[in-house]
Amino acid sequence: MGKNIIAPSLLAADFADLKSAIALCDESQAGWLHLDIMDGVFVPNISFGMPVIKAIKKETKMFLDTHLMIIDPDRYTKTFAELGVNLLTVHYEACSHLHRSIQLIKENGMQAGVAINPHTSVSLLEPVLSEIDLVCLMSVNPGFGGQKFINNTFDKVVQLRSMIQDRNLSVRIEIDGGVTDKNILDLKEHGADVFVAGSHVFKAENPVQTIKKLNYIVNE
Ligand code: DX5
Ligand code: ZN
Repeated sequence: MGKNIIAPSLLAADFADLKSAIALCDESQAGWLHLDIMDGVFVPNISFGMPVIKAIKKETKMFLDTHLMIIDPDRYTKTFAELGVNLLTVHYEACSHLHRSIQLIKENGMQAGVAINPHTSVSLLEPVLSEIDLVCLMSVNPGFGGQKFINNTFDKVVQLRSMIQDRNLSVRIEIDGGVTDKNILDLKEHGADVFVAGSHVFKAENPVQTIKKLNYIVNE
């Protein structure tokens, strides 16, 4: 696996045939598998939850990058750890005690990520930056796959990368939403190193080949 990671999002896969979607990710050059968990409260959509993660875990040993779009996520942190999630990302906007949420994720043996919505400033992460493994910059409003990439993401990547470098940290920057072969190189050059891709991968004629191409672009 290269330094930069492609993380296909299963949200865009055919849910009636998740087995094949997982198998293709497994055999591809994807580094992580991105799981989008929505509660219908924090975001206006409901995706899938614990029983589905349990089924996914049986099918693959891939690194599970789990993006919680749910309010008050601490209620389920232990459960996600027991399910075998490797990295748990919570939303800045969904946690009233973000520092505690991060502590809880780490106490449960997972890597900790924090996601921020397109309207949320990266400067708000300054007090927790040294505590986390990843920042997920939402480049669409969370809730749905297949939306248009929001351009203010580029400035946010630059600002965040310099905050990380100034503090000598090794926090990853993940971009989530509207990532394609057209913008991924630009995103990498601005300082991102994990790239979620849903529709671009799963609506493609050849998803394995598409992942290979994305991986080549950011790791060549
Ligand atoms: C949106 C999700 C994304 C989504 C990305 O709420 O967090 O992970 O699956 O989908 P695309 O790549 O189709 O924009
Ligand atoms: Zn996501």
